[in-house]
Amino acid sequence: MSMDMFSVSGMRALVTGGSMGIGMGIVKRFVEGGAKVLIADRVTEPATKYIKSLASTQRQNISVIEVDLLNDSAPGAMMKSMIDHYGGIDVLVNNAGIYPMSPMLEMSEELFDRVYRINLRAMAFTCKAAARLMIEQKTKGKIVNIASIDSVHPSYAGLAAYDASKGGALMFTKNFALEVAKHGILVNAIAPGGINTEGTTPASMAGMSAEERDKMMRAFVSQIPVGRMGTPDDIAKVAVFLASHASDYMTGSLVIVDGGRLLM
Ligand SMILES: NC(=O)c1ccc[n+]([C@@H]2O[C@H](COP(=O)([O-])OP(=O)(O)OC[C@H]3O[C@@H](n4cnc5c(N)ncnc54)[C@H](O)[C@@H]3O)[C@@H](O)[C@H]2O)c1
Repeated sequence: MSMDMFSVSGMRALVTGGSMGIGMGIVKRFVEGGAKVLIADRVTEPATKYIKSLASTQRQNISVIEVDLLNDSAPGAMMKSMIDHYGGIDVLVNNAGIYPMSPMLEMSEELFDRVYRINLRAMAFTCKAAARLMIEQKTKGKIVNIASIDSVHPSYAGLAAYDASKGGALMFTKNFALEVAKHGILVNAIAPGGINTEGTTPASMAGMSAEERDKMMRAFVSQIPVGRMGTPDDIAKVAVFLASHASDYMTGSLVIVDGGRLLM
């Protein structure tokens, strides 16, 4: 059987939050697979460093744009950049997201809104902008939304805002898939389990001591049947599948990639 159907070669892909963590894992697999990639992130330094480390032939196929997804102009700016760099878009990966721990009993309206605006609202309007461009191009396309196992089951108390946003991201994915299927645009979601990333490092777990975090991580790993945390590449390989022609009869699906965590 030819493996070409799993190829992303030549595809023009936008990855939000691609400077770090899962997003960077996806960027690396796409670049390795010969895609043309635009990283969109509010932090560009790690992406720029990664680009500099690439061979010159690969460097031609990757760019970075600084955007803050809290800004309503971000989706338009990202599409313009895709057109300027690559003439259009074939694949959108909505990966950027935040997961601050804060009990609802202590939650500020500002924090709740920030989580909702980045994880759901920006995802939705970036989907809208990308799909409109794909329709205009008459080229079809693939959209991969990074949801979470928390889209379907809560992990911890303190993630109510996050879980609401990710539950919303899942249902948005399904309804948008229904809406744009007639244009040949396929929209799926990935639900990662616990993945080691910059975002899950001690420094970024605001309000938690190192001891508390270690205890939480040990408890989390004990609940993962395969016995380890995931890596960004565990998610990246599934993103490649959902971007490739191997998944051409899939839309509105949620692919759970959690080492079996949800089985527990
Ligand atoms: N790491 C996990 O265990 C895990 C589990 C389930 C789901 N997820 C989801 O996967 C995605 C990536 O998570 P991660 O762990 O790699 O996170 P991370 O914090 O390591 O990286 C997130 C990236 O998104 C960017 N970003 C955040 N807010 C932004 C904004 N307003 N505008 C532009 N860019 C912004 C950051 O700069 C960063 O590069 C998120 O949607 C997260 O909810 C992660």
